[in-house]
Amino acid sequence: MDKVIILDFGSQYTQLIARRIRELKVYSEIVPYNISLSELRKYNPKALILSGGPRSVYERDAPLCSKEIFKLNIPILGICYGLQLIAYLLGGKVKSAEKREYGFAKLKVINNKELLTDVNDETQIWMSHGDMVVSFPEGFIVTASTSNTPVAVIENRKRKIYGVQFHPEVKHTIDGRKILSNFLFKISNLKAEWNLISFLEKTIKKIREDVKREKVICGLSGGIDSTVTALILQRAIGDNLYSIFVDNGLLRENEFQDLMRKFKEKLHLKVIGVNASDLFLEKLKGITSPERKRKIIGNLFIKIFKEEAKKIGKVEYFAQGTTYPDVIESTSVKGPSSIIKSHHNVGGLPSNLKWKLIEPLKELFKDEVREIGKKLGLDEEFVNRHPFPGPGLAVRIIGEVTKKKVKILQKVDKILIDEIKKAGVYNKLWQAFPILLPVKSVGVMGDERTYKYVIALRIVESVDGMTASWYPMPHDLMQKISSRIVNEVEGVNRVVYDITNKPPATIEWE
Ligand code: XMP
Repeated sequence: MDKVIILDFGSQYTQLIARRIRELKVYSEIVPYNISLSELRKYNPKALILSGGPRSVYERDAPLCSKEIFKLNIPILGICYGLQLIAYLLGGKVKSAEKREYGFAKLKVINNKELLTDVNDETQIWMSHGDMVVSFPEGFIVTASTSNTPVAVIENRKRKIYGVQFHPEVKHTIDGRKILSNFLFKISNLKAEWNLISFLEKTIKKIREDVKREKVICGLSGGIDSTVTALILQRAIGDNLYSIFVDNGLLRENEFQDLMRKFKEKLHLKVIGVNASDLFLEKLKGITSPERKRKIIGNLFIKIFKEEAKKIGKVEYFAQGTTYPDVIESTSVKGPSSIIKSHHNVGGLPSNLKWKLIEPLKELFKDEVREIGKKLGLDEEFVNRHPFPGPGLAVRIIGEVTKKKVKILQKVDKILIDEIKKAGVYNKLWQAFPILLPVKSVGVMGDERTYKYVIALRIVESVDGMTASWYPMPHDLMQKISSRIVNEVEGVNRVVYDITNKPPATIEWE
């Protein structure tokens, strides 16, 4: 299958480039910008894309790749910083623009034969840059410009090297899809062969061949990723899959019972349900550090999986629902899209674990996992559930976790989700959840002074969880949610709204 490799120079849009390419049915992967040429060759890429990035090519320690990439003799497209890098490496000049250009701009097309085929003569693009190319290398022509950026698109048609100063991967660039499609199909002659059905078939076949008659355990979290993982394995190895769902006492209200029923009756999974809520709460007693909480919970999961495996007999494999963003966000070999938290599935397991890992979703984005889930029979409501972190409500109760606080938070969570669903905004959001703060504040209810907990609401939009923006909730909806929480949940007398993006904040509070 034809493959496009994206060298990551740290842009917040790098993942978006990969997604757009896959939407055009070409398989794409992201690798760090400083990958060695021999490693890069192993991917056998049919085309390369150099991503954008926040740095300047002239800066000390700027992320540069080797000039040797031009000797691979495959088409190359540089985007933003990628364009500047092409110009810089091949003898052009880049300098800092007088004014940082951010937002919409009008692109004027001068020559629309190759990269800009079928692009309107004047078209809206999305810019985000501080530097610009002021002289371009020999062999290149300028095929489009804007009023502030004379060198907005360059092309070396003989060597098949192209660069754009704007972001074709961002939806605000009206002809962005067209430009990427020209690069993939007109210039690089790639075949549109990537599709999820063939991915699914190949994955099932491969698991069947690798695992043979061995036993596999799969930890279910109640989320879409682990459920889809289990369904793929069920198709591949049938009864040799043992799914385990642990009630750690940190799930949403009634989640354990509801999901156990669903797993068994609707999805026909062989699930072992383990009620361990007292154990988890006991071990979390007195613990306030977020990292300690995560470690304790992670270790208990492993301990329970090991105990269950012992009862099953000889288990060779452990399956988990790691997805591509987890891999990008957590691996150490990566570009400068910096490591934000190291808590996701990848790297979350102890290194001395005897089981071999199966991670069938490791190459997929969330929306692709959702598509596969639908193909495997998951209903729309389940497929569109918001992500829920492995450590559950423990990372949403700041400070010590107690049974009483879990109960309060479960009630608040239910009100929030009910109201957001009723208002029809649930599916627009990446996540919506409450956080119980370790502070009490004074209030007045009826004629009485109260002194109770404060709840923060975190409601965000995001494409993949790596960046996120807080959601401007309609005021009447906020009003309704706030009144219901304070009126219906004993122990809470104040609700506040989190208005911080990621970055600088993460989505979860701990
Ligand atoms: P942060 O808080 O790092 O979260 O911005 C990004 C996304 O990941 C989810 N998350 C987790 N998912 N195990 C998981 O499976 C975890 O330990 C974990 N921590 C955070 C979070 O809910 C958000 O969607």
